[in-house]
Amino acid sequence: MKIITKTFEETINVGFSLGKLLKEGDVVLLDGDLSAGKTTFTKGIGKALGVNRVINSPTFTIVKEYKGSRCDLHHLDLYRLDGINNDFDLEEHIEGNNVCVIEWPYQVEELLPNEYLLIEMKRIDEFNREINITGIGRYKEIEEAL
Ligand SMILES: Nc1ncnc2c1ncn2[C@@H]1O[C@H](COP(=O)(O)OP(=O)(O)O)[C@@H](O)[C@H]1O
Ligand SMILES: [Mg+2]
Repeated sequence: MKIITKTFEETINVGFSLGKLLKEGDVVLLDGDLSAGKTTFTKGIGKALGVNRVINSPTFTIVKEYKGSRCDLHHLDLYRLDGINNDFDLEEHIEGNNVCVIEWPYQVEELLPNEYLLIEMKRIDEFNREINITGIGRYKEIEEAL
């Protein structure tokens, strides 16, 4: 499914609609260049999970864990993974009692699960973003419910 957003609020709203369909154990991969809107989209997911803290880019920490009133959120940004000691445990995040959102997922391509929700984001110009949502495996149901 393809959606165009014209403001960052619209992207948060798309993330929010998706977030309402997510539950613990779900994995969302966010693909797209810097500034495509991946972290903005994650803010919407967090809002739907009942996360009260402000979600911002975890670029320098790789993983941020947020408590949510409905479900916890683990937000991973693997952009700088190559630069750090690469011994963090991906499985702990993708198989835990939380929703796991991963920016720059192809940094660990060989470790990714077989099923996930793929969000591909493209910056068209300053304010327009193209968002392609594809459910792989059991996540097809979520794509269809959107
Ligand atoms: N339609 C839009 N959707 C998302 N972000 C947008 C949009 N229009 C402008 N922006 C801006 O683009 C930037 C996206 O940043 P961010 O979400 O951190 O991207 P990424 O995590 O992909 O690097 C933000 O500064 C945001 O305000
Ligand atoms: Mg980001």
